[in-house]
Amino acid sequence: MATIVGGIGTTHVPSIGKAIAEKKQNDPYWKPFFKGFDYVHYWLARTKPDVAVVFYNDHGLNFFLDKLPTFAVGAANEYRSEDEGWGIPVSRPIPGDAALSWHLINALVADEFDVTMCQEMLIDHAVTVPMALIWPASNSSVKAWPVRIVPIEINTVQHPLPTLTRCLKLGRSVGRAIESYPQDLRVVVVGTGGLSHQLDGTRAGFINKEFDELCLDKIVGEPSALTHYSIHDWVQLSGSQGVEFLNWMAMRGSLTGRVSELNRNYHIPISNTAAATVVYDNQPQAVRKAA
Ligand code: DHB
Ligand code: FE
Repeated sequence: MATIVGGIGTTHVPSIGKAIAEKKQNDPYWKPFFKGFDYVHYWLARTKPDVAVVFYNDHGLNFFLDKLPTFAVGAANEYRSEDEGWGIPVSRPIPGDAALSWHLINALVADEFDVTMCQEMLIDHAVTVPMALIWPASNSSVKAWPVRIVPIEINTVQHPLPTLTRCLKLGRSVGRAIESYPQDLRVVVVGTGGLSHQLDGTRAGFINKEFDELCLDKIVGEPSALTHYSIHDWVQLSGSQGVEFLNWMAMRGSLTGRVSELNRNYHIPISNTAAATVVYDNQPQAVRKAA
């Protein structure tokens, strides 16, 4: 059966892609952010996942305001990106795992999550930047990607957005589905975006460190404590793009075991964003002994 080895949360700011292309990882501005990935690389070298399930939000590359699903699951064997006009490079195509995607889609629909199924889906910076951060060697043309992906899109762009509770439940459904997959795959779940940031309007540049730290503290052991906030509260406390935390809630929901934080890096700012990188361990719950 498939097992969930853990979760990774990371910011997906597009200018990170440009910094990678220009090899600026050790520049004073970038170093404190990129250092946060040393632990990610160490942990991945030990856990060796085969597949990454990636919760992210599309920013207008594959879906636009005319047609925007609340939840969409990629079901392709390859995902390409395109020039988004941000100056980030187009990434190498990333292999998908369509068989696992269809298993997740079947399980989600049976669980009353009526997702949009995408046999073709362009991935934007919310997938390509995290992938290049998490598996840096594979973004160059030297090495093949060591994982296949299943991208799962959550609408954080056009209101009404799904609630935090709904995204936590989506994650739980995905977690149960992964664990019922008959192949012996090792799966890491990734949530991208956030933390607090606002790119537009009179509050452009808004960051809320205190609220971000509360979120990072609560999401590990009591994620449901965060579901008391409405989306409106979240925009006020975390900024209009801080709602990308919905992807983190889904990632956390998919971790079905005993969850602990193995590593956390928080750095302000990267572009307009409070940047966070975390690694969560997912220990299967001890099987209860028969009486
Ligand atoms: C920035 C952050 C984002 O999440 C995004 O999608 C685009 C830009 C930024 O801070 O520049
Ligand atoms: Fe974003």
